[in-house]
Amino acid sequence: MPSHLPLLLLLLLLLLVAASSSDPISLPLRQTPLPPHPDPLHRLAALASASYFRASLLKNPHRRSSPPSATSSLFPHSYGGYSFNLAFGTPPQELPLLLDTGSHVTWLPCTSSYHCRRCASPSGNTITPFLPRSSSSAALVGCRNPRCLWIHSADFLRSRCAACNNVTSDCPVSACPPYALIYGSGSTAGLLMLETLGFSGRTFPNFTVGCSVFSQRQPAGGIAGFGRGAPSLPSQLGLRRFSYCLISRRYDDDASERGSVVLDPPKQDSSSGLSFTPFLNNSAAGAGSPFSVYYYVGLLEIAVGGKKVKIPHSSLLPDHIGNGGVIVDSGTTFTYMASKVFDPVLAAFVDRVAGRYNRSTALEVQTGLRPCFAVPPNATDVELPELAFRFKGGAEMRLPMENYFVFADAAGVCLTVISDGDDVATADVAGGPAVILGNFQQQDYLVVYDLERRRLGFRRQSCLII
Ligand SMILES: *[C@@H]1O[C@H](CO)[C@@H](O)[C@H](O)[C@H]1NC(C)=O
Ligand SMILES: *[C@@H]1O[C@H](CO)[C@@H](O)[C@H](O)[C@H]1NC(C)=O
Ligand SMILES: *[C@@H]1O[C@H](CO)[C@@H](O)[C@H](O)[C@H]1NC(C)=O
Ligand SMILES: *[C@@H]1O[C@H](CO)[C@@H](O)[C@H](O)[C@H]1NC(C)=O
Ligand SMILES: *[C@@H]1O[C@H](CO)[C@@H](O)[C@H](O)[C@H]1NC(C)=O
Repeated sequence: MPSHLPLLLLLLLLLLVAASSSDPISLPLRQTPLPPHPDPLHRLAALASASYFRASLLKNPHRRSSPPSATSSLFPHSYGGYSFNLAFGTPPQELPLLLDTGSHVTWLPCTSSYHCRRCASPSGNTITPFLPRSSSSAALVGCRNPRCLWIHSADFLRSRCAACNNVTSDCPVSACPPYALIYGSGSTAGLLMLETLGFSGRTFPNFTVGCSVFSQRQPAGGIAGFGRGAPSLPSQLGLRRFSYCLISRRYDDDASERGSVVLDPPKQDSSSGLSFTPFLNNSAAGAGSPFSVYYYVGLLEIAVGGKKVKIPHSSLLPDHIGNGGVIVDSGTTFTYMASKVFDPVLAAFVDRVAGRYNRSTALEVQTGLRPCFAVPPNATDVELPELAFRFKGGAEMRLPMENYFVFADAAGVCLTVISDGDDVATADVAGGPAVILGNFQQQDYLVVYDLERRRLGFRRQSCLII
């Protein structure tokens, strides 16, 4: 129908003009996201608080403690993380481990006397610990094994290994001394062992994994350390890449709905719709620094409603002692922003929403999230400003509304970003990354950690595998 062509062109032009005008960009938020919960406000508060503790852990890690293409399903948990199954030992014993790109030691609940205080357990399921005695391939890491240096300093080991060879001392004969990993408010302790690791039909002998006998405030099943550095699972397995796809906003322990994690996925480039941004080195932090475990990216700009938020650029890059900068983390639930980043973002949202919805401080107090807005009760569509991140290399993440706003109740929505709260000691989060991009914001994205080419790739897609 050639006669309609000019009209179509005109319409297209109008659309283009409309799209590029400077009007704030708003997106609709539809009510449905979180599954039913007896006390939704309490759940949000719990997730906010878990994110806060996670931020304080990533910002203040105590890595060295004093003595004392294979695809798998990825399951969401009520504690705000995602787990997948790994098999250890001969014959294999399968356990769920938290997928954690913010730490690098892999450990699992181990021995029949494993004790876990205040640990998050997937509802209704108790996890059977790994039993080294039932495995023919389990071996302790020796005191002089270079892998013992992954968790202890050389200085400490010089004296300690001699003592460990003394049968009367408290460590098993010539074994690497026990580790104690401290994660924010939680911790885990045990012995390093070598064990055969099985993942989706592939086996890797002599994988170094922590056999934890005591933990506090940890996921019930242990942690798979996907961070940077020699001890991490990707390094030990020699992976060139890994990727994950997190299903949408269901921290509900429902095993029937899952996303996926892939080790060594095929090479992909921007022709597959992925946007890439290089990983940055936090060189000031140095090789031994706990910050060297994190995946830093160059976040250049945060935009709210299509308008760039004024943020001191320096805070988005690590400073001369390694503080600041932006990391991507699968183990954090809600994105964390230090106040100097968060305050202007908060102000931008408040400014953009003004006149449309009232701010609800009551909801903010109840959930620990800011800002919250009162919306018409049981509204099916709520218009809120778009949140976008622009990264080094041109990659842009324009988040769908569901990845940063949540219905706190039938008449209110809250931004799912946390910052330095006044209810917790602010000193706790003074150092470390200024922004931690959490898993809530990454849902329904395919996220590729291209280790070979040192870059992060992402694209929006549905992650649900039924
Ligand atoms: C072994 O440890 C015991 C107790 O600490 C000590 O008395 C003994 O001298 C040690 N033996 C050696 C060979 O170091
Ligand atoms: C695993 O380590 C043990 C002890 O260090 C060694 O004897 C064995 O050859 C190793 N196995 C493989 C497959 O590397
Ligand atoms: C980061 O460090 C690695 C290894 O230390 C090096 O190969 C790489 O070139 C560095 N990247 C940048 C962007 O400086
Ligand atoms: C905001 O609050 C004021 C005062 O309580 C009220 O009059 C107004 O209708 C509210 N506006 C909206 C959009 O809910
Ligand atoms: C909103 O929906 C809930 C649950 O469906 C219902 O109990 C409540 O009465 C509704 N509120 C209003 C103001 O319609």
